[in-house]
Amino acid sequence: MSKPEVAVVMGSSSDWPVMQHAVETLEQFGVEFQTKVVSAHRTPDLLAEFGKTAAANGFACIIAGAGGAAHLPGMLAAHSTLPVLGVPVPTDHLRGQDSLYSIVQMPKGVPVATFAIGKAGAINAALFAISMLATTNPALAQKLAGFRERQRDTVLEMTLPPA
Ligand code: RP5
Repeated sequence: MSKPEVAVVMGSSSDWPVMQHAVETLEQFGVEFQTKVVSAHRTPDLLAEFGKTAAANGFACIIAGAGGAAHLPGMLAAHSTLPVLGVPVPTDHLRGQDSLYSIVQMPKGVPVATFAIGKAGAINAALFAISMLATTNPALAQKLAGFRERQRDTVLEMTLPPA
């Protein structure tokens, strides 16, 4: 097995139902990844260690999902110059708007690419990671083009009212 290219981290195992969609998307494209629970407020030392060593460990980017006062993506970005792709996980009380604002409102100087709340964001974060990897991987670029074509064909075959 080759080395994982994408790190998929999340603040809690309770984020898995959302973040599993990022993992499934990477799997569909045959991209190697590593998953890990890293909590910004409960395991701050682990977070720093993970961020500081991520590039040396061979990751091309980090997908980070978190909910609430979601500091994980921003703090990983503070510890690494790798691209960090943030996924706001839905929450009980504010439905993930808290997570979204926490992740998207990074002050200038340390960016986090922020995706939609929930499943769509998790899938798109993985697709974005795949797009980045595809710039230097022609086989992956071809898979991505095929995916877009199938997606287009699905829409062209839609009938109304829906079957
Ligand atoms: C965040 O707190 C996690 O990313 C999760 O979305 C949220 C709740 O965590 P648990 O209390 O379910 O472990 O750090």
